[in-house]
Amino acid sequence: MPGSPCLLCLLAVTFSLVPRTRPLAPQDLMEEEEDETSQPPLPPVFCDYDSCRHLQVPCKELQRAGPRACMCPGLSSPAQPPAPPRLGEVHVVAEDGSAVVHWCAPSSPVHQYWLLLWEDSGATWKGPPLNSTVRRAELKGLKPGGDYVVCVVAANGAGESSVPGAGGEGLEGVGGPTFGPCGRLAVPPRPVTLVHTAIGVGTVLALLTCLALVWHFCLRERWGCPHRPASQPAVGL
Ligand SMILES: *[C@@H]1O[C@H](CO)[C@@H](O)[C@H](O)[C@H]1NC(C)=O
Repeated sequence: MPGSPCLLCLLAVTFSLVPRTRPLAPQDLMEEEEDETSQPPLPPVFCDYDSCRHLQVPCKELQRAGPRACMCPGLSSPAQPPAPPRLGEVHVVAEDGSAVVHWCAPSSPVHQYWLLLWEDSGATWKGPPLNSTVRRAELKGLKPGGDYVVCVVAANGAGESSVPGAGGEGLEGVGGPTFGPCGRLAVPPRPVTLVHTAIGVGTVLALLTCLALVWHFCLRERWGCPHRPASQPAVGL
């Protein structure tokens, strides 16, 4: 049978041709697209950098360390003092007279941050220097019922960021939702103080009530009312 190997050959050739000649299925198209996109370099993406994230590694370091090229937000010149940071949430804990202050980095090179605190009495307090990754700091020893203004200052080799009306003046407009480096900080009175006040007010009220009752039941009987003596007999009935 000389024809049968040849027939097998033909069959084999035909079957091997079939996958090549069938119309392109969607998965083939996808494979082709993948092939095409993997050839030119990947388009750069933004680095995983958040200017408000605590302990955020500087974007330049992310760029150096990353396996893939990424883009950083533009920064002002290192020859200029940084722009002011933006104050974020200020969380006051009334019980222990402390507050946690959050902020976001400016679009400038920053070497360090610190906090400034003005008391309503006029006293100013400058916090310790914090490194450029820090976005959160705690204030301690705040007075219950106290009113403060807190500002975040950023500094680099060229100087430090501006603070509105340094020294506390011009801060009257500060408060509410802010986009600047400063914000108002009101410490509520201690809950213990509130309880004491409530007990005091309650005691005074109870004493007044007692006095009124004593006057009503005892003293009024004895002394009578000046315009209606108790001994006056009924007239005209
Ligand atoms: C920056 O300060 C924070 C908090 O003090 C600390 O955890 C961190 O290690 C410091 N980072 C650098 C680079 O010094």
